[in-house]
Amino acid sequence: MISGSSEGKIKKMQTSRVDNDNFSLKINFSKSKKTDSTKLHQYDVRKYINPDNFNFPAEMQELIPKDTPPYYDKGENYVERIVRALGYFKQCACIGPSGTGKTHIIYLVAELTQLPLWEINCGLQTSAYDLFGRYIGLGKENWIDGIITSWCRYGGILYLDEANMMKQDVATKLNPILDARGHMVLNEKDNELINRHKDAYMIISMNPFSAEFTGTKPLNAAFRRRMSVWLNFDYMSVDNYVDDKEVNLLVERSGIPRDISANIVRVAAKLRQAYKAGDLPYGPSVGDLANWARIIADGASPVDAGNETLVAMTSDDYEIQEEVRKVIKSVDWGIIQTSDDPKVLIIAAIEKSLLEIGKPDLNKVKQRLMEDYNRTLSDCYEEPEFLNRILKDIYGKAHVTIVDSIKKNLESMSDKKEVREFLEVVAR
Ligand SMILES: Nc1ncnc2c1ncn2[C@@H]1O[C@H](COP(=O)(O)OP(=O)(O)OP(=O)(O)O)[C@@H](O)[C@H]1O
Ligand SMILES: [Mg+2]
Repeated sequence: MISGSSEGKIKKMQTSRVDNDNFSLKINFSKSKKTDSTKLHQYDVRKYINPDNFNFPAEMQELIPKDTPPYYDKGENYVERIVRALGYFKQCACIGPSGTGKTHIIYLVAELTQLPLWEINCGLQTSAYDLFGRYIGLGKENWIDGIITSWCRYGGILYLDEANMMKQDVATKLNPILDARGHMVLNEKDNELINRHKDAYMIISMNPFSAEFTGTKPLNAAFRRRMSVWLNFDYMSVDNYVDDKEVNLLVERSGIPRDISANIVRVAAKLRQAYKAGDLPYGPSVGDLANWARIIADGASPVDAGNETLVAMTSDDYEIQEEVRKVIKSVDWGIIQTSDDPKVLIIAAIEKSLLEIGKPDLNKVKQRLMEDYNRTLSDCYEEPEFLNRILKDIYGKAHVTIVDSIKKNLESMSDKKEVREFLEVVAR
């Protein structure tokens, strides 16, 4: 599919040049460059492509993405490597399972380099007319460039998503642009020869071709040879590996506590492993996890929110959905509370710490609170001194260990006044 915004822009550009086949695009140079310098500092791309060297007309400036969120990786420097490949070879390929951020990073690269982005999804049946161009009206007077032709003439990044699904006729036409010839021939338009604009870059992306990734095809061989750099993308957390950056990202995006975020990533890592092994049709992306986290932040329990977001997204098949539910339930959600009420959190932390020793211990503490002081566990928030006495009574000096464990369970809340006051009394 041609991205909605590009489509509108192309039409705008075309109307300015239909009168004259020799090209009469009005060039309006933008006076102010919109490169966000803080972003440029974060990624070291200027040495490969310097945005200050470009001066695209105003219509094309609108194809430059804005406000793309940062791309996180584990030190692979994907952003820099893509820009380096473009700087040296003008084109590169990004390969990775669904949801690993390929589209995201390509938008970011376009924004950082300030290059207009022409996006085509080769999996959709976009017609050759839309891609290369056509005459409109009667006769052969009014020619309209297609998206690939516009890119070749005016420059920018041509982003071919699902490149392995590209139709043969399109690939055949792209081949001479990508090799030493560097031009395209518009057979539809009196064999017009268009030289590749000096700032015309290309990025292709696709899912890896293998038996597990159902529906994928190998990339056309002639096309494969023309890509000098291949970058492999993967999820940040897979199988038993839980990446801290991914955990932090969810906390930042939704504001949920860190331990819940870590559990979400744990579930995702397992589901992704199952997807990569061919056991599930989909592996959740960071974006999917952010949605899950948002529903939790709104007050839903982690399991309910996971069912609402992840389960149905993975498949319509009931049995597969059950598999996903099982994985969600398999992590220890414990008695983590999503509430930010300090009383709820403190009582949950006491319960959790005692349960870690064993259920009989929790019962014993509850029983003694009742027998000795006629108090329940939830009274311990207002009257922590009773818990302090009972813990010392039952465990002696070892009561410190239990207090430490409660403290640890309240770590994410340690700046709350109520939590500090409570801990101060039970620790006496
Ligand atoms: N490393 C990352 N840093 C920040 N956000 C990421 C990262 N990886 C994925 N995301 C987020 O996950 C979601 C999915 O990413 P995206 O659509 O770019 O994946 P994709 O690789 O293009 O998938 P597909 O192959 O299905 O097209 C988006 O919301 C994206 O912002
Ligand atoms: Mg994509």
